[in-house]
Amino acid sequence: MEVIVTKTYEDMSALAARMIAQQILHKPSSVLGLATGSTPVGTYKELIRLHKNQGLDFSKVTTFNLDEYVGLPPTHNQSYRYFMDQNLFNHVNVPSASIHVPYGHAESVLDFCEWYEAEIQRFGGIDLQILGIGGDGHIAFNEPGSSLGSRTRLKTLTEETIEDNKRFFGPGEEVPRFAITMGVGTILEAKKIVMIANGKKKAEIIAEAIEGPVSSQVSASALQLHRHVVVILDQEAGSKLKRADYYKWVYEQKAKLMPNLIGKAT
Ligand code: F6R
Repeated sequence: MEVIVTKTYEDMSALAARMIAQQILHKPSSVLGLATGSTPVGTYKELIRLHKNQGLDFSKVTTFNLDEYVGLPPTHNQSYRYFMDQNLFNHVNVPSASIHVPYGHAESVLDFCEWYEAEIQRFGGIDLQILGIGGDGHIAFNEPGSSLGSRTRLKTLTEETIEDNKRFFGPGEEVPRFAITMGVGTILEAKKIVMIANGKKKAEIIAEAIEGPVSSQVSASALQLHRHVVVILDQEAGSKLKRADYYKWVYEQKAKLMPNLIGKAT
């Protein structure tokens, strides 16, 4: 695992975007796994800038998103599809036929989940997966207790998450209780994973996920089993890491001697 602690949210976002851009330059037909939430907004902004100012080309890229609420149409302003349209897809040239976000209105969620897994395989698997991390260590909607081998499936949201989400919905509007999410096992099959986190609120769980034991109680800890993970943090999110000095040292040595190796080591 390569851990990079940057100074600010903007630095974290710029570095994550650079890694995605490098992936696309290296393989224009890359399959990207994408996340929603507040963390990747800056990364997507930077990708849009690279597209507009430097011609970063998404025309051959295929995308698969991690998760979606069940019961929300893609046009609902709280659906993850809507989020992705607003924050990335509407501003870059990824063809709409190449975009995959779990479909929250599928007639049979079970069939849909199987299809989603097969579709990822049909495109040759995910080349680069972007992840955020929840306060309880979840990745995608894999709440604590999710099997480390889990696949794309229907997940019942915790009461805490439902309560938390209420503020985004109008009065009388039903808050989703279920989501479709890639499993931890699905995520671990990505060829490369970049996890990003910022802010003090993430410091404790980041330290647990990176330096604690691998456990289904902290889904993100499963990333320790993957051979190519880069974790990019801002200073606050990295503030509880015991080996922070070592990660910094590694990064500085690489930056000095082999700048093009940053993000390539395991
Ligand atoms: C979203 C997702 C979630 C978020 C996590 C962090 O697609 O998969 O696991 O990455 O909940 O959310 P933020 O970034 O809002 O702190």
